[in-house]
Amino acid sequence: MNVVVVGSGIAGLTAALHAREAGHSVTLVTKGAIGDGSTGYAQGGVAGIYGTGDSAAQHAADTIEAGAGLSDEIAVGVLVRDGAARIAELIARGVAFDRSPDGELLLGREAAHRHARIVHAGGDATGAAIAQSLVAAVRSTDVTVVEGAFLADVLVEDGIARGIRVVVDGVASDLSADAVILATGGAGHLYAHTTNPLGATGDGIAAALRVGAAVADLEFVQFHPTILGEGPAFLISEAVRGEGATLIDAAGRRFVFDSHPDGELAPRDIVARAIARQAARQGSPVRLDATMIGRLRLAHRFPTIDRVTRERGFDWASEPIPVTPAAHYLMGGIVTDLDGRTSIRGLLAVGEVARTGVHGANRLASNSLLEGAVFGARAAAALEAPWQLPPMTVRGGQANGPTHGDGRSSDVDDHGTAFSRAALQRLMWDHVGLLRSEDGLRYALTTLRRWIATAPDPTTVAEREDANLLLLADATASAALARTDSIGAHFRESVAAPLLETV
Ligand code: SIN
Repeated sequence: MNVVVVGSGIAGLTAALHAREAGHSVTLVTKGAIGDGSTGYAQGGVAGIYGTGDSAAQHAADTIEAGAGLSDEIAVGVLVRDGAARIAELIARGVAFDRSPDGELLLGREAAHRHARIVHAGGDATGAAIAQSLVAAVRSTDVTVVEGAFLADVLVEDGIARGIRVVVDGVASDLSADAVILATGGAGHLYAHTTNPLGATGDGIAAALRVGAAVADLEFVQFHPTILGEGPAFLISEAVRGEGATLIDAAGRRFVFDSHPDGELAPRDIVARAIARQAARQGSPVRLDATMIGRLRLAHRFPTIDRVTRERGFDWASEPIPVTPAAHYLMGGIVTDLDGRTSIRGLLAVGEVARTGVHGANRLASNSLLEGAVFGARAAAALEAPWQLPPMTVRGGQANGPTHGDGRSSDVDDHGTAFSRAALQRLMWDHVGLLRSEDGLRYALTTLRRWIATAPDPTTVAEREDANLLLLADATASAALARTDSIGAHFRESVAAPLLETV
């Protein structure tokens, strides 16, 4: 079978390797250079190795609890059951996870995990180590790699995916395929502040929306709580809090306990909101205090963070550092079954672009690399029968996409702001971000629809990305407006939960 994989993070690389090893002819298409996506930025690690007192069942329970109860329990069961085999595969492909002097895997802990179960490499450079090994593995095969290729569209004929249209150096061409696996990642660049690399512009989800594939849970956008508060977005891993770092307000008080009894180790959405609220209250960023971890341990366990914070003028071993939330991960996406199949025959989706249901309303830390590896492999195994349609009952979520019938949004005066990528990102940050209100969502939708109605046909890659971001912004704001309750990462201020948030 001729298989095209789009995207070269852990999900796409795993799918490509497994598909090739199963005897398929594979072309891997990627927007930048191979391995350039979000995977390489991941710091924390991969959850899924269970020490004394821990188990896959406990990992599943933590995943579901962090997901505010909206996770698909069957998908979560698959994630934690297949995880160990995928971590073993990463090791076999050359990923040197950190080990103790006697050779045992070192396990880290992050927020909302009840146990230390996260393997990591190079201290805080796990994603880079994984990307490097998987890229080398793909390079050692005869998988055809096409770099610098922008996904313009999925080609669908008679309801079946037949290939993709790509733009390389400004020239569009069609690649035919018996099956297309989308692994294009997320859309952090919907927002003014994000941890994501520049390429995260929602290209795969937008292409899927254009051909009518089912998407769901787009209202669930995860904001990572701790980005270094000054300079270009730089992640301070949750593993730092897992090692004991605390979050303090201007008076030095650990304020997150006001929101959740687990304090700094509460689910990510709760910590991010607590930080945003406290920063607004005090008019300055809150601080992460990692001084108790000790200079040597900080440098050894978190070498990348240690280096970058110093480059930016902070000595985190001796003083708390300013932190602020930023858009990090999209829980929703293209609806898939347990083997990556979407509602379009022959079209599969894996990794962040997919909505498998494992993350519910809020992803548990270090489950994203795991999901990419587990479902990347499963999608490749499912290629023998890609025409089977998935069950279309979206358990625990709601199917969504742009809903242009929302009459009331047109009542809102949107002040005529002109479109630019920065204006879109600011609009989403202000009104479709961490804290949302009905009025803000209607204002955002009115503005987005005016921009969509007046947008020229895109020709350059930047214009195509803008069109994708606009389409996805509309779908996200529509989904957020449709979900009138507050749950997980979706927080409607007008129906706000009490200050003390419990899951
Ligand atoms: C982190 O290291 O805090 C990020 C890990 C993740 O997003 O799962």
